Amino acid sequence: MKEKAGINETDVTNALRKVMDPELGKDLVTLNMIRDIRIDGGAVAFKLVLTTHACPLKKELENSAREAAASIPGVTAVTVETTAEVPKSRSLPRKEPIPGVKNTIAVASGKGGVGKSTVAVNLALALAKKGSKVGLLDTDIYGPSIPIMMGIHRDLEATEDKKLVPLENYGVKLISVGFMLDEETPLIWRGPLVMQLVQQFLKGVEWGELDYLVIDLPPGTGDAQLTLVQTIPLTGAVIVTTPQDVALIDARRAIKMFNEVHVPIIGIVENMSAFVCPHCGTVTEIFSGGGGEKTSRRYGVPFLGTIPIVPEIRECGDSGRPIVEASPDGAEAQAFFTLAGKVAGTISVLDMAEDKTPSAGAEG
Ligand SMILES: Nc1ncnc2c1ncn2[C@@H]1O[C@H](COP(=O)(O)OP(=O)(O)OP(=O)(O)O)[C@@H](O)[C@H]1O
Ligand SMILES: [Mg+2]
Repeated sequence: MKEKAGINETDVTNALRKVMDPELGKDLVTLNMIRDIRIDGGAVAFKLVLTTHACPLKKELENSAREAAASIPGVTAVTVETTAEVPKSRSLPRKEPIPGVKNTIAVASGKGGVGKSTVAVNLALALAKKGSKVGLLDTDIYGPSIPIMMGIHRDLEATEDKKLVPLENYGVKLISVGFMLDEETPLIWRGPLVMQLVQQFLKGVEWGELDYLVIDLPPGTGDAQLTLVQTIPLTGAVIVTTPQDVALIDARRAIKMFNEVHVPIIGIVENMSAFVCPHCGTVTEIFSGGGGEKTSRRYGVPFLGTIPIVPEIRECGDSGRPIVEASPDGAEAQAFFTLAGKVAGTISVLDMAEDKTPSAGAEG
């Protein structure tokens, strides 16, 4: 091997300082993403520690880091070992964090039935499949749709020190208010009860270590929802809408609600967007298209993409095996993986940002 003496760690860090993380706006060395540099003659090896397992720029960053190291005179081989460490959310320090939980993602909608629970479940599964530790907290008082979608039916158990143990399926831990509410509980009692239950869940659940806790909120922007988003320490919120005008008007209400309580909005996702014919692949816009994106532009919040309306998504939900689990390679599951990447990327930016003031969400 032709070797040029004197490659040292400084040469490597100097080269890697030129590689920027486009999402976080800083270089890899400043971001403390380069660790454990080893040099053996002309062979250079290091760890690239990303801020999320679901990083959408993983390949790009890996290649740029490799090229930067390879460009150092005398380097003959470069080995990059890519891992991830999700940083702990620094947002909302006024609220007591949930023990063991690094980030919390609220999934909300201004209107019921837009696919919020479907998005919450598949987002959680997609994050878990990318390698993160994920929990799902279902605070929806109107029905146990998440336990059904997750295929979970067992009763909850408690630890010796009286902490609830989440149920687990598909690598995701789950706690649902549905586990605690009697089916006979009248709806008007459910609003006040959910607050007590959620308070109990925030402190009294043995989540273990979680990178992300996805929280399915009850639909709407009423008192119960407002109290929940004020009480739960939230890293950010994902707002689900469908393309119809009525849903979009309610999505705007949800944006305003989060703005009022200073919870950063991760973005809007448009569900049941267009129909893709399973036989011929023709795309049909059932409602007028592009409403989610227009709303996100108007309110200055990111647009996280679209999920098509396809019978398989509903069938998978009903059968307790979400589409991300049932056909991970299909286009629908891929839409959820893309969503997960964007959500995780935005959270990394929020976690790394010094200024936690949400910039999004102009009045309108
Ligand atoms: N992209 C989709 N394609 C086909 N069916 C879908 C899609 N998204 C959701 N659904 C179906 O629509 C119904 C409503 O979805 P879901 O329960 O997720 O909505 P929600 O907003 O959580 O409703 P709620 O307000 O009752 O909590 C379910 O039967 C679900 O399987
Ligand atoms: Mg729901």
